[in-house]
Amino acid sequence: MTNFLKKRIGRIVILTGAGVSAESGLNTFRDSGGLWEGYDPLDIATVGALDSNRDMVLDFYNSRRSQLNDCLPNLSHLAISSFQNNFSGHVFLITQNVDDLHERAGSPQVLHMHGSLKSMRCDYCAEEMKAIEMFEKSTICPSCGKAGKLRPDVVFFGEIPKQLDEINIEIEKADLFVSIGTSGIVYPAAGFVAHARNTGAICVEINKERSEVTNLFDTSYSGLATEEVPRFFSNLLLKNEI
Ligand code: OAD
Repeated sequence: MTNFLKKRIGRIVILTGAGVSAESGLNTFRDSGGLWEGYDPLDIATVGALDSNRDMVLDFYNSRRSQLNDCLPNLSHLAISSFQNNFSGHVFLITQNVDDLHERAGSPQVLHMHGSLKSMRCDYCAEEMKAIEMFEKSTICPSCGKAGKLRPDVVFFGEIPKQLDEINIEIEKADLFVSIGTSGIVYPAAGFVAHARNTGAICVEINKERSEVTNLFDTSYSGLATEEVPRFFSNLLLKNEI
């Protein structure tokens, strides 16, 4: 069921989460069999864990990085990139995902608010650089030559997500906010819908099941990202319908 839009949509913010990459073979965090199952995220994704058990944390992210080599973008990544490339207005894509599937699908712009597996940084020299495929505590930083302080450039629990000022500005200017494949549990991303709503955007959710924040959306589509996302963006582009 779609609704004809009475006003023209000029600016769109899209937020994606692990659900867009699930059908590419990457586990989500909280579905059964998910990434956090069997792990306490606090043992893996905090600065404290990095300090106390660096090799275990680096191993976890090394194996997630290597998994990307076996994955391809799916129809939802491709539909988003095609929309970005063909829509006459402004589209701003934010992902919570640390994979590179939006880029590989051809998205011309993507903001990784939780960082990226493809990037690493050194806590000695603060240099951010392209990640080495596998690195451990003893790996020497290509920039400063010291070992021991390389880390994946991903946002750990307790750290501040990237580029929040830019994100807030985009949300405040948006006519339409579309959230795809995210459980609405982790803030600040889970709070974007409330912000978008308060600043006048129409809010649409596409997710396999109800999220923690479904009640804040004007319209919710429940289903698989590879089916619902292409349908949604094609209706919006060709018929101005949501
Ligand atoms: P979650 O694992 O919390 O939620 C994934 C959501 O996607 C769930 O609501 C699923 O129902 C839905 N889903 C699963 N498969 C789907 C499919 N094929 N099509 C559509 N929806 C599907 O993942 P996120 O919400 O992305 O942060 O998690 C947010 C953050 O929590 C992550 O970025 C990560 C994690 O802790 C950090 O590591 C900082």
